[in-house]
Order: sequence, then structure tokens, then C-alpha cells
Amino acid sequence: MDDPVPHRRRPRYPGKNPRRFEHKYKELDPASHPETVAKVIAAGKTPAGSHVPIMVREILEVLQPQPGGIAVDCTLGHGGHARALLERLSPGGHLFGLDVDPLERPRTEALLRRTGFGPDVFTTHQGNFAGLSSVLAAHGHSGADLILADLGVSSMQLDQPARGFSTKLAGPLDMRMNPARGATASQWLEKVSPQKLAAVLTDHADEPHAAGLADALAGESFALTTDLATAIRGTLRDRPPDELDLSVRRVFQALRIAVNDEFSALDAFLRVLPSCLNPGGRVALLTFHSGEDRRVKHAFRTAHQAGLYREIARDVVRPSAEERRANPRSTSAKLRWAVRA
Ligand SMILES: C[S@@+](CC[C@H](N)C(=O)[O-])C[C@H]1O[C@@H](n2cnc3c(N)ncnc32)[C@H](O)[C@@H]1O
Repeated sequence: MDDPVPHRRRPRYPGKNPRRFEHKYKELDPASHPETVAKVIAAGKTPAGSHVPIMVREILEVLQPQPGGIAVDCTLGHGGHARALLERLSPGGHLFGLDVDPLERPRTEALLRRTGFGPDVFTTHQGNFAGLSSVLAAHGHSGADLILADLGVSSMQLDQPARGFSTKLAGPLDMRMNPARGATASQWLEKVSPQKLAAVLTDHADEPHAAGLADALAGESFALTTDLATAIRGTLRDRPPDELDLSVRRVFQALRIAVNDEFSALDAFLRVLPSCLNPGGRVALLTFHSGEDRRVKHAFRTAHQAGLYREIARDVVRPSAEERRANPRSTSAKLRWAVRA
């Protein structure tokens, strides 16, 4: 006989309100709190511990997945786009799901396995999309029929204070998508010069107070995300509250891009992309800020002029007003696409 499931008492909080993240964010355990998750979604927010995929309909229109197709989702994340693609690649197709994050990738693999996608149609691969051609070659493919990249970090990563991306929840100031590699944001800030930091804040996030913030933050030691947020607010204390929130978000974005060397990875990826597509193969790229979109636009144009792409997006595609309302994290999304000659 199976062991009876032990009865678990509801956690008692040591004060009036829950203080710890895992108590406060019931959405992290959706199976136990479906009513909380439903309320969060109805309020137009993303439940902590899940990720709502962005512009799925538009991406499917662009990529036109067909049964038997070979596809790569270069930024697997929580697998929302991967799932929509997988549903259209069977029978006979295969989706390679890449992600640089060694913590989230196995969880997403397990999630999609539970949904019924076996290793014959879906495999995941740990690594940076800059190395896409090696992943394809290692599995006997010279190119893919469709490639997707949805840049940045997932809500899963953002909402876990331990990952150090959150501007609101206290956690170690880390921000590495792969915590096994490179310096944390805290170590990076401690070593950076004010000149370099000012350039990073301007180039990576268009921060208008870059110089003043760089003088105050460079070389300082911040253990927690909230310590850094407090220091940013203190430096700009004369500015209105809305402006402070924006600056906190921009500084965190700029640091995340620097710590993960995101622009170098994107540039390398855009260079190898045409050679990773089969003739007539299609690529869709979702970007979230001007530094990313500029790179994609320029690379697509140059490769189009060189005859490597048969067609590219003339204009950027934006999420519908309805999607922006339902999922505020989609607001800054821009979709560009290209078709291999
Ligand atoms: C916005 S999320 C993708 C969400 C996904 N489309 C979904 O529907 O759940 C971006 C993901 O890409 C990963 N990522 C970011 N840069 C990467 C890179 N250079 N190579 C591989 N994965 C990367 C992040 O770790 C994160 O999981």
C-alpha cells in the first residue's frame, strides 16, 4: 500500500503578514493556489513563477511551423513559445530548445515532457545561442527551417529573488543567467570605473542620469538588490518618484546586460544566423529595448543587401493593445523577422 500523504499545516507567519517570498507569492505553487493565480492574471499581472509568452500569434504567422520542420527556440525560458511551435511540428518535426540558464532549462524540459513531448520531437541544450551552429552540427543538421529568439530574461528568473534580478525583492546582487560563470553584478560594480559605468548606463539603458549615478555607484559594494535600489534612489533623491522607479529599472537592465555580455552574444548570433537557416528558412526575433532592436535591424538589413535574406520585416511588429493590457511585460516588445534566400 502507498504511504499516506502526511498532513501539512498551513504555515504560520511570524507576524501579521507573510514576509518571506515563498509565503507571500502563493502563485509560485500554482497547483495549491489556483484561485490566487486566477486573480493575478485577471488583474493583468504575471503570476510569480510563471512566464506568459509574448506575441505568440504573430510569431506563428511569421515562422509558419509545419509538420516535419526542424526548429530552434534559442531562448527556451519557460517553454511557452516552444510549446506552441511543438504543437505544429508533429508529426516528424523536431525542436531544439537552447537556454544558457542551467537552473530553469531542466525544469522546462520536465514541464514539456509532462505535456507529452518526448525526446524524439523535443530536446533541450544548455548553452549560449552565439554557439547555435555547433548545436545544429552536433545533431547532424546543417540548418534549421525556423529559428526563434525572445531576448532578455524570463519572469521565472525575474521573480526569484535568489537570482538577483528583482528591483523590489531582496536577494543577492547576482544577475547571472548562468550562475556557474563569470562575475556577479555585485563583483562587477565593485571593479568598474565611473567612466565605464557611465558608458554602460547610457549605451545599455539610455539612462539620463548616467554620470551622477556612475560616480555614486562605481567601486561600491552592494550585497543585496535592494541595497543597490536604495542607493540609486538616494543619489537621485531630488527627482520625482516615477522617475526614480524608471532609473532603478534602467540601472538594473544595464547591469544585467553587462554582467551577461548580452550584446556580444547577440552580435555573434546575428552573424551566424543566415548560415544556420535552410534555404527559405524563417527567423523571428523579439527584442525589448533599443540597444537590442538596433542590432537586429542593422544585421537584417546588411544580410538582406548581401543577398543572404530573401525578405526582411520592413517595419517592426508590436503587440496588440489587448496583449499590452493583459500582459504589461509585453509593452516594450518588438518583433522583427527575416526569410533566408
Ligand atoms: C524572455 S525569456 C524566453 C521566454 C520563452 N520564450 C517562453 O515562452 O517562456 C529569455 C530566455 O533566454 C535565455 N537567454 C538569454 N540570453 C541567452 C543566450 N545568449 N543564449 C541562450 N539563452 C539565453 C534566458 O536565460 C531566458 O530563459
